[in-house]
Amino acid sequence: MFRSVVIGVGSYTPENALTNKELEQRVETSSEWIVQRTGIEQRHIAAEGETTADLGEAAAREALKNAGIGVEDIDLIILATATPNNTFPATSVQIQNALGMHHGAAFDMQAVCSGFVFALTTADMYIRTGQAKRVLVIGAETFSRIIDWTDRTTCVLFGDGAGALILEASEAGDGSNQDRGILTSHLRSDGAHKEKLFVDGGPSSTQTTGHLRMQGREVFKHAVGMITDVIVDAFEATGLDENDLDWFVPHQANKRIIDASAKKLNIEPKKVVITVDQHGNTSAASIPLALSVAVNDGRIQKGDLVLLEAMGGGFTWGSCLLRW
Ligand code: UT7
Repeated sequence: MFRSVVIGVGSYTPENALTNKELEQRVETSSEWIVQRTGIEQRHIAAEGETTADLGEAAAREALKNAGIGVEDIDLIILATATPNNTFPATSVQIQNALGMHHGAAFDMQAVCSGFVFALTTADMYIRTGQAKRVLVIGAETFSRIIDWTDRTTCVLFGDGAGALILEASEAGDGSNQDRGILTSHLRSDGAHKEKLFVDGGPSSTQTTGHLRMQGREVFKHAVGMITDVIVDAFEATGLDENDLDWFVPHQANKRIIDASAKKLNIEPKKVVITVDQHGNTSAASIPLALSVAVNDGRIQKGDLVLLEAMGGGFTWGSCLLRW
């Protein structure tokens, strides 16, 4: 039985960090309100001309270096993004070209903030079925480009960034939940919630890019329940539970949502990886960015049980339980 084992991780954040204090100059807000309601202290903003593909390429290069392999060893690239460079071609194909890779395949995946969990799950299916040996999974976003910078209810929340993992097929395990690699993943979506979080433009509707619109309180109301549901699914599928976890690496939208989800699941605060303070909500990039931080500072070690979850526009939501 093939398992998808993480062999490399990388990330990239643009140089420019925009602080809450600076945002006070742009809209009627206060650093205190932002920190209290969200936990966010700063977010990174892509430089003029710096695109999602550039961010994704930088994270991918670091992940390849971390894994000690080259693009010749990759069969497939899956990019999770809601902020592509162009309507087409897919941004993943642009990253593939920038990396000098002209074999295999690349495609984009669109599940907004849940995109990375959807991409990881898809990559895992390619590996489990023997269709791919190594998959580069990237989450990259430039949400600063779809933000209405006059709307204080959204512009303080989001940031730009990218993270990447490399998954490799491994037959080393015995098929038990002690194996390294992805143990289980659970994806959900429900389009009935479209109006609560969406972009008010697109090629087929308005022929414009549009801006992000969100009924924050409504999203918040659904978030914790949806997140905990798919985590319970992961526990039930594996027979593992919160006591077995080493790390909980949630999508980083709001520290209050993360804290409430962890509390509902009895996950100890010391096991929760938080980066929303430094990155804001980077949508599909938030989980691989947080993973990269926790691997590089030595928290996540080989063999650790790591729980990922995300929830976002659509709504889409999902969980993934893996042994590092
Ligand atoms: O990643 C995708 C999923 N997205 C999310 O998970 C986001 C989910 N939602 C949230 O994180 C929170 O709902 C927000 C952070 C967006 C808002 O926090 P909240 O505690 O739900 O606040 P609220 O929307 O109920 O607004 C409270 C007050 C309002 O004023 P009134 O109506 O009580 O007078 C807002 O107008 O705060 C006001 N407000 C602000 N004040 C200062 C809204 N935005 C701001 C702001 N600065 N930036």
